This record gives sequence, C-alpha cells and structure tokens, in this order.
Amino acid sequence: MAKLAVNVDHIATLRQARKANYPDPVTAAMASETAGADGIVVHLREDRRHIQERDVRILRQMVQTKLILEMAATPEMLGIALDIKPDIVTLVPEKRVELTTEGGLDIITHFNNIKESVKQLQNSGIKVSIFINPDLDQIKTAHKMDADMIEIHTGSFCDAVTDMEREKEFTRIVDAAKIASKLKLGVNAGHGLGYHSIKRFKGLDEIDEFSIGHSIVARATISGMENAVRDMVELIKRL
Ligand code: PXP
Repeated sequence: MAKLAVNVDHIATLRQARKANYPDPVTAAMASETAGADGIVVHLREDRRHIQERDVRILRQMVQTKLILEMAATPEMLGIALDIKPDIVTLVPEKRVELTTEGGLDIITHFNNIKESVKQLQNSGIKVSIFINPDLDQIKTAHKMDADMIEIHTGSFCDAVTDMEREKEFTRIVDAAKIASKLKLGVNAGHGLGYHSIKRFKGLDEIDEFSIGHSIVARATISGMENAVRDMVELIKRL
C-alpha cells in the first residue's frame, strides 16, 4: 500500500500572510501524524515565503514519522540540512518568481552540482530524493548519481485539460515509475494531486509514497469552517 507524506507549507502560507504566530505548521504536522500520515514535508524556500528555518528545527524535534525537507541544492540550504538532519531531503528546482515548484529538476544539465549535493547529504546519513519529470533520461541519471529515490512530478498530469492529454501524461508517469522501480530507486510522486486525481493511481504499485499538500490544506480550511464559525458565534452570544 502506498504511503502518504503531508506537506504543511500552506499552513505557514496562511500564517505568514499576517506575520502572525498561527496557524502553526508544527501543530498541523502533529494532527497529520495522528490521522495516519507517514511523513511530514516542508519546503524551506530561499525567500522564506512560508516555512521558516525555526519551523524545520521544531519539526525535527516533534515529528515521529519522518521529516522530509524539500530544498534547492544551494550552499545555504545544504548547510541548513546538514545541521538539522531531516530524514530525507528532496532536491527541487527553485525560482523566486514562481507560485509553486515549476517542473522537475534537470539533473542532466546540473549533474555535477547535484551529484556532489547527493553525496554530501548521504555522507551525513540523510536519504536523498530528487524531484524530476517523468523522463527516462532523468531517471537513469538519478540512478547514476546514486540517489536513494526519486519523486515523479505529477503536475502535468494534474493540470491536463483534455482526457487524451491526461492519459498521455499518466502513461509517462507509469513508464517512469516502472523504470525507476526496476533500477531499485524508491519511487514517490507528487505535485498538484487532489481528491479526484489520486484515484487514477489505483493499481500502480510501483509508487511507494505520495507527497500531497495544497489539496489537503484547502480541504481542511473548508471542512473546519462550520466549527470555526460556530465557536465564534458562541463567544459573541456570550458577550
Ligand atoms: N512535491 C514537491 C517536490 C513539491 O514541490 C510540492 C509542492 O510544494 C509537492 C510535492 C506538493 O504539491 P501540492 O501542494 O500541489 O500537493
């Protein structure tokens, strides 16, 4: 059975929108673990738009499943990862102007830098995953640089507009997962997955774990709305 790693970045997005101290991504991580999550994911971005370094340090102390840190392979981030020691680092591309991670990391073009980062992280006991598009050459390269696992970018599948386009993208994911699994790489998948699109993955046993954030946080805000309003109505009634 595939596992679920929950990304709590967008709890921090809501907090940072007001520069407040709530909602707290660590509390959300604890609730996710209580509900059965197999891991907690955070992306510490260079611009610190949501998760802060302090969050990662507290999560390191609190998470009981596994802590997965998404980050760019920069000297600054490597220093932080080697210090905090998450269980897994997922190397991702990062652009300041993007709304969210756009596309997988091109590890063919950036072979030397990524390979060196993989080695440094592994030498300090951290497992390394690389976020790549479902592209066979990228997967073979991840194997060549001894990554522990890959995360297949599911964004193009999730964003596909027509059924034909969606199925074409899904076939790419299936082929990628099968090749990676044959190469003995761990196989994760994520980006853009939601309560509808996840159903298409039934029977694709090569995927070990899904990494999902936005759709879960979005659903939590709506499914929690009635209780939140009721609590405030109750307090106002008592004024
Ligand atoms: N995997 C990676 C590498 C990501 O960058 C993200 C987005 O932060 C996700 C998974 C989760 O994507 P989503 O928030 O759309 O579920």
